[in-house]
Amino acid sequence: MGRTSPNTIGTSRHRYLLGDAAREAARLRAQARLWDPVSLALFDRIGVRRGWRVLEIGPGQGSLHMALRRRVQRPVDAVERSAAFADRLRTLTRRDGLGPGQIWRTALLDAPLPRNHYDLIFARWVFLFLPDPLAHLRKLVRALKPRGLIALQDYHRETLALVPRPDEWYDFLAADRAFFASEGGDVSIGGRLPDLYRRAGLRIVETQVTIKTGRPGSAVWRWLTTYFMGVMDQMAAFPPFSPAAASRLRRHWMAAGRRPTSLLISPAVLDIVGQTKVDPA
Ligand SMILES: C[S@@+](CC[C@H](N)C(=O)[O-])C[C@H]1O[C@@H](n2cnc3c(N)ncnc32)[C@H](O)[C@@H]1O
Repeated sequence: MGRTSPNTIGTSRHRYLLGDAAREAARLRAQARLWDPVSLALFDRIGVRRGWRVLEIGPGQGSLHMALRRRVQRPVDAVERSAAFADRLRTLTRRDGLGPGQIWRTALLDAPLPRNHYDLIFARWVFLFLPDPLAHLRKLVRALKPRGLIALQDYHRETLALVPRPDEWYDFLAADRAFFASEGGDVSIGGRLPDLYRRAGLRIVETQVTIKTGRPGSAVWRWLTTYFMGVMDQMAAFPPFSPAAASRLRRHWMAAGRRPTSLLISPAVLDIVGQTKVDPA
């Protein structure tokens, strides 16, 4: 998928790297099946409850959006820049009888969010794509009530490992970073979030980490392999990784997938929860 691919979602601000084609939608649904329990546990710890006003950024295929609606027993708002994903969300939300939420079909910075409105704003795997995450955070803080919560789940990519480690691994990791940076993102934004929260005036309430590991044949192995095989050609454009190195790594990865003793260690997913301070005035 090159820079002119029809599968990318373009705006004047930046291109969304992964697009919204049917294959990406299917990948997101499989990924959600693996990771939704981690998000649901986060919702439990936060104590999301009936009546809360909630906003989700970048709901994608919508499984957590529907879970949030069930918890608060009312519509949840969303900002989703993919028209295809926003349309699907609209269809899904017609089914549970809780009524339509506001869905802004636009990039977050362009959404006319209300001020002092939400009890909780949630996003999983969205901030890693965003140029100027602090500007995005500040916008969300303005939309929160006093003592409102922001809960973001995002990657600390550095734990990603294939065991045994291929020779190309460190160039591959650098290409992963460079691929996201090429559109202004930070593939390992998770570790920066606490500092960004403080600069946006939030108090840190919780930091939590989840790392998944898997052997060949497992859901974790399939998840990481599907994603990286899908973007390997794009990553090959970022030296010192190269098309030749990408072919070698692909062969190594496939061979590792036939040995039951191989291991994949996932990027860490960090849950970072912050709360708006009460205005002393
Ligand atoms: C990797 S997907 C994650 C989807 C979903 N949150 C999940 O966890 O399965 C990123 C999602 O964020 C959306 N997105 C990316 N940039 C956005 C932006 N600037 N404003 C709103 N949505 C955005 C994409 O369209 C996509 O639905």
